[in-house]
Amino acid sequence: MPWKSGDKYRSLLRINNAIINQSTRDSLFKAMAVEIKKVFHYDRFSIQLYDMENNSLSYFATAEGVKPDGISCETSRPLPKGSVANLVIESRKPVIIKDLSKHPKLTTAEAMLKEGLKSTIALPLIMRDELLGSIHFSFKKFPPEIDKLPSFLEELSMQITIAIDNMLAYDKLEAMNKRLWKEKEYLFERFDKQNREFYYTSPAMTELMKDVELVADTNTSVLISGETGTGKDHIARHIHNLSSRRDHLFVKVNCAALAPTLIESELFGHAKGSFTGASAKRRGRFETADGGTVFLDEIGELPLPSQSKLLQVLEERAFERVGESMPISLDFRTIAATNQDLMPKVRKGTFRRDLYYRLNTVHIWIPPLRERAEDILLLVRSFTTRLAEKMQKPEVRYSSAALEALCRYPWPGNVRELQNVIERVTILRGGHTINETDIEHILHSFESAEKTAEEREFLTRYEMERKHIESALAKCGGVIGGKYGAARLLGIPRSTLQYRIKKLGIEQSSERGLWANPPLPP
Ligand SMILES: Nc1ncnc2c1ncn2[C@@H]1O[C@H](COP(=O)(O)OP(=O)(O)OP(=O)(O)O)[C@@H](O)[C@H]1O
Ligand SMILES: [Mg+2]
Repeated sequence: MPWKSGDKYRSLLRINNAIINQSTRDSLFKAMAVEIKKVFHYDRFSIQLYDMENNSLSYFATAEGVKPDGISCETSRPLPKGSVANLVIESRKPVIIKDLSKHPKLTTAEAMLKEGLKSTIALPLIMRDELLGSIHFSFKKFPPEIDKLPSFLEELSMQITIAIDNMLAYDKLEAMNKRLWKEKEYLFERFDKQNREFYYTSPAMTELMKDVELVADTNTSVLISGETGTGKDHIARHIHNLSSRRDHLFVKVNCAALAPTLIESELFGHAKGSFTGASAKRRGRFETADGGTVFLDEIGELPLPSQSKLLQVLEERAFERVGESMPISLDFRTIAATNQDLMPKVRKGTFRRDLYYRLNTVHIWIPPLRERAEDILLLVRSFTTRLAEKMQKPEVRYSSAALEALCRYPWPGNVRELQNVIERVTILRGGHTINETDIEHILHSFESAEKTAEEREFLTRYEMERKHIESALAKCGGVIGGKYGAARLLGIPRSTLQYRIKKLGIEQSSERGLWANPPLPP
């Protein structure tokens, strides 16, 4: 026997070399089976995994050699009481039975004896104090002296345990990887769907989207500007998804939302203990985006000291984590966005001129919605259908005057505001026809709700006109025409005043006899 001569280490090494490169459970088990057989002869070899939570066993891979009847080959089964596996799992110690016929109480003995298997050795698989399962060898003829070499069996079981533990970890990683890929595919699919739901028909947006396609698959820095709600985020993601970086991450950094003291560690990471609270090493957003795109949103809000560091990183394509001195080289593309004009900031010295030009290799300016009225009707129609479907409500219909009012409105919150208005109309008036008065009420209430206290001091054109007419009517006791009527006071024809009253939704309050705003539509 090879172990007699101290060749056991050579045997162990051979086993190790054979199993180290295996990447599937079956190939690993087969390699073990072949190599161990070169050291001692067995007639059956199996590895069982133990699931402590369910107190059950499953085969690591299909057992090798004799397959006795009554010894289950199911993938998972309750741990049989009185079995050899049960003895090993409970004791966590090797079990060596030279003569199974002397152990009739063992539940598996009879089936084994029937196949001529007279003896068995079972070893526990223990890793970091956790019981993973058991290794079983059974013999028609017990190999002489094998039981006299406990250290060899111990080392063999240790080696098998390490290989199994690695394979289980590999399986877990594989499963996790598959899940992440599925999630990624799902997110891409969702984005793709959203992308198909990006609506435009105006010449301005059509031209802009052509530029977006041209610039997408280059590594050029892009600066996207435009008022709030015009679609800057959307365009930035679209550029990333059209580029060859699409399989890597799109990492968004909202520069306005970062605490000024933590900006650098957020962007570039930090070493453990580099400042109070840095209890562990951390990767920054640039490192996370390696191979992909970093989207620097609201770039105008980045404080000056961070601007210098950012400029340096953009020029050198390398940086050091806070508290480290090893430079890290990365491959990333930057897209920045701003809803303010950066030039006045550059002139004032609050935004670095050199950074401005670095980010601004290609500039995409998204026009406000009021400057591309052609898109408004398409957006209204598309959002109406999409939101009704999403909320499971009947679609809203609009009178042509209502559509005109929507096209006339200046949309300070751009597409986001329009989307919110349609959402509100769908909730409140799904299935009804909306007229111009309804629209003006809704837009008016939206404007009031969105305004800050400061802004509220300024009235919109609609509010001003409404207040003006209301006070004229109040002064004239509600009389419209004639010598003492409001029309004369306002210096407009009676028919025009009547039309404006109707259009602005001014109604006479029955209680006060005054003209007042009607309630919002239900
Ligand atoms: N052309 C469009 N078609 C469909 N939806 C759009 C369009 N433009 C913008 N949106 C939608 O409007 C909302 C606002 O868009 P986005 O977040 O991209 O705007 P933004 O310019 O980044 O705004 P902010 O400056 O406030 O961050 C999103 O829900 C987006 O999907
Ligand atoms: Mg945005």
